Amino acid sequence: MFTKVFEPFGIHFNFVNMNNAADLQKHITPKTKMVWVETPTNPLMRIIDIQATAEIARKNNLLLVVDNTFASPYLQNPLDQGAHIVMHSVTKYINGHSDVVMGALCTNDDKLYDELAFIANSCGATPGPQDSFLVLRGVKTLHVRMDRHCSNGKAVANYLKSHPKVDKVFWPGFPDHPNHEIAKRQMRDFGGMISFTLKGNSMEEAFRMASATKVFSLAESLGGVESLIGHPASMTHASIPKEIREKSGVVDSLLRLSVGIEDESDLIEDLKQAIG
Ligand SMILES: Cc1ncc(COP(=O)(O)O)c(C=O)c1O
Repeated sequence: MFTKVFEPFGIHFNFVNMNNAADLQKHITPKTKMVWVETPTNPLMRIIDIQATAEIARKNNLLLVVDNTFASPYLQNPLDQGAHIVMHSVTKYINGHSDVVMGALCTNDDKLYDELAFIANSCGATPGPQDSFLVLRGVKTLHVRMDRHCSNGKAVANYLKSHPKVDKVFWPGFPDHPNHEIAKRQMRDFGGMISFTLKGNSMEEAFRMASATKVFSLAESLGGVESLIGHPASMTHASIPKEIREKSGVVDSLLRLSVGIEDESDLIEDLKQAIG
């Protein structure tokens, strides 16, 4: 969307590795207007320091927007950490039942709010009544669902880490995750999104495994009560050229799990039989 939809309108994006937020400063030019951050990132669960990024944005007079979809407002509150706007794909955890497509922008700045509300109203990017009804139903259980997503996520991440056929497991709750300390500071818990690669990095083996799960459904999207498994290289990230995709870590055998709220042992048994 950034490169293919917005660039033709003259809006240019620079993609920056934010493992160390201080690196951002050297990419800022007099033309820079906004910093857009996603944390945890999809699909490699990288963690970006929101407070440190907000400080750089403040010094350079830039807007900071945080895509908070993976954490949900239950686990992370970027406005409290200095962001100006928080974006959610409401489709995911906030709704939680995989039956709505919706987005939300949140701000505590009245001027920004008025500008965004004007754009939403004039462009028609506003949710319909049935979708709003479904999201209001979903959000009532956000806290209960998130607690279960987090505890199931922890159990599944630890199971995968101990599996001899699994190579790397990406989950911010591991003490050896490169930004675990930042995750601990800015998130209440580590969530139910996990990615992993297989030893040998075979695309065929990843396909076989993703098709063999019975509790985890093979599907895009995330954040619903049901567990999902996805293959980023052929699904969510298929439109990114292979060399760029692989360089950024989205290798052929990478699989992404959205761990649902089912019974923990059903999830682990399912992965056990699918990995083989
Ligand atoms: C982190 C993140 N932000 C935004 C989106 C876009 O959400 P939607 O599908 O509701 O347009 C997604 C969808 O996968 C996502 O994972």
